[in-house]
Amino acid sequence: MVSKLSVRVAGLHLEHPVMNASGILGATPEHIERLASYGFSAIVTKTITPQPREGNPPPIIVEIPNIGLLNAVGLANPGKNIVPKLVEVSKRLGKPIVISVGGSTPSEFLEVASIAEEAGADAIELNLSCPHAKGYGIEIGSDPYQSYEVVKTVANSVKIPTIAKLGLCDRIVEVASKVLEAGAKGLTLINTVRAMVIDVMTARPVLSNVFGGLSGPAIHPIAVRVVYEVYRELRPEIIGCGGVVDWVTAAELILAGARAVQVGTALMWKENIVYDVLIGLRRLIEHFGVRSIEDLVGYSHRV
Ligand SMILES: Cc1cc2nc3c(=O)[nH]c(=O)nc-3n(C[C@H](O)[C@H](O)[C@H](O)COP(=O)(O)O)c2cc1C
Repeated sequence: MVSKLSVRVAGLHLEHPVMNASGILGATPEHIERLASYGFSAIVTKTITPQPREGNPPPIIVEIPNIGLLNAVGLANPGKNIVPKLVEVSKRLGKPIVISVGGSTPSEFLEVASIAEEAGADAIELNLSCPHAKGYGIEIGSDPYQSYEVVKTVANSVKIPTIAKLGLCDRIVEVASKVLEAGAKGLTLINTVRAMVIDVMTARPVLSNVFGGLSGPAIHPIAVRVVYEVYRELRPEIIGCGGVVDWVTAAELILAGARAVQVGTALMWKENIVYDVLIGLRRLIEHFGVRSIEDLVGYSHRV
């Protein structure tokens, strides 16, 4: 049934625009059940690489009060063999599932993407943006040509939609343009932003990895800017991500140009966030006197 809140994004038909963000849960069947119980319209898994990864040694996560989280998990995940099980659980619960895929070469991305397609996943989100795993993520995703190669390799070989998840970098519009040219059906914007904290009593970086990815309220205005700019220049289908903590922060991303949003860090404090966001978005539809949430996508660009 089409409702005021239903959206289409990157080939997905969603009952509302609120999905979870990759990595805060999403690596085990139990996580998928929890995410489904929170009311997300689609489930996004933790980034899965071909082989299991242990990630970085502790400390890997620091909470920074009023700012957000700094993490350097290092793409710890159980590897490709978990994918069919994650898909099965999500399907049983009636939720579309997006497999987040990681790799250090185009063929590694394709290896996991092919398994996801075979297992019946609804879409693939290519992680071209993790800022704290050497040889992965933003190291590929800040280069338009490497990003193009990864997306082209996957999008040419799998039929389910390929979404490219990009992170903060100076050439974001150029990277976005190249991955769309390579066949990405949509973009998730943005991942965590590379940052660090220092323990002043020991004078040492707190994270074992020194640098981590900052998420939560501190990066929200950056995410809004990136979504706004990429939408203005290219008009792609965007899933906005970064610092969504309530309906206002979700609405900003939609007005900037996102067709859907993802929630990550806020899940640490607010498990009922989906319902909060949906109540607020319904009111916003009335406030502007439009028919549906899709009419508000990119509304802040209207002249
Ligand atoms: C603990 C943690 C683990 C994450 N793991 C992943 C991951 O595996 N893959 C990915 O694409 N993003 C990962 N992210 C980034 C989130 O998906 C999201 O892009 C980012 O946190 C910004 O959204 P937020 O402010 O709502 O958390 C992770 C974030 C956190 C905090």
